[in-house]
Amino acid sequence: MWESYFGFKKTPFSDRPDAKQLFASAAWQQVKTRLEFLTQHSGAGLLTGEAGAGKSTAARVFAASLNPSLYKILYVHFTTGSALDLLRQIALALDLEPAHFRGDLVRQISDAIVRLNQSKKQHPILICDEAHLLPHPALEQLPLLLNFDMDSSRYLTLLLIGQPLLRRTLSLQMHEALRQRIGVHYHLEGLTREELDAYPTQQLKAAGVAQPLFDETARQGLYQATKGIPR
Ligand SMILES: Nc1ncnc2c1ncn2[C@@H]1O[C@H](COP(=O)(O)OP(=O)(O)OP(=O)(O)O)[C@@H](O)[C@H]1O
Ligand SMILES: [Mg+2]
Repeated sequence: MWESYFGFKKTPFSDRPDAKQLFASAAWQQVKTRLEFLTQHSGAGLLTGEAGAGKSTAARVFAASLNPSLYKILYVHFTTGSALDLLRQIALALDLEPAHFRGDLVRQISDAIVRLNQSKKQHPILICDEAHLLPHPALEQLPLLLNFDMDSSRYLTLLLIGQPLLRRTLSLQMHEALRQRIGVHYHLEGLTREELDAYPTQQLKAAGVAQPLFDETARQGLYQATKGIPR
């Protein structure tokens, strides 16, 4: 209804922006470069940022840009948070019928990861979103998946995404094995004041409206209220 009032062809400020609606901030370029490096070199990466900074959006748009015949995206996010639940989600993302016991699940997942690489020539990228909510036993499963045989570190790329608490959690001694494998880390900040000037204009343009609807006072108010966090 309001879309037609303003003459929008698409809803601006969508909560699931596509590649055209994505605002390519300087921070997004940094994330993109690091994710490209991560996919080329395997291992683990960490993307942190405040709630609403755009972490999931960045990961989703990046994942969608990858060639699906070369990469298989395994996207998991916090549900009940138990180690078993995390492994089950990973098994389901790999199109497996999850085994009942933890040991069997890890073996099942490891075998599927090797099969994907060797038979299908497809590299799996495991994206654990909202990883700051994962309890310690669940996080402790991840190094096992990166390190199950001599070659396994090349078989899986892991991207952990979470709010700043995740950095503190990973700094605990118990997560040393996981932390040591993190070769790429980026903390996503909100938009700068200059970017926040350009963001509404870009969003309106992507929705089919060329004339500016936000004046300087409105943009200043937006920045004060949001500190540049797009949500
Ligand atoms: N680069 C971007 N271009 C356009 N809109 C964006 C961009 N980044 C974020 N947004 C907007 O901000 C909203 C919040 O982004 P997102 O869900 O990715 O944040 P998040 O960091 O994953 O938050 P949380 O920690 O709560 O999961 C998106 O739904 C979208 O509307
Ligand atoms: Mg998110």
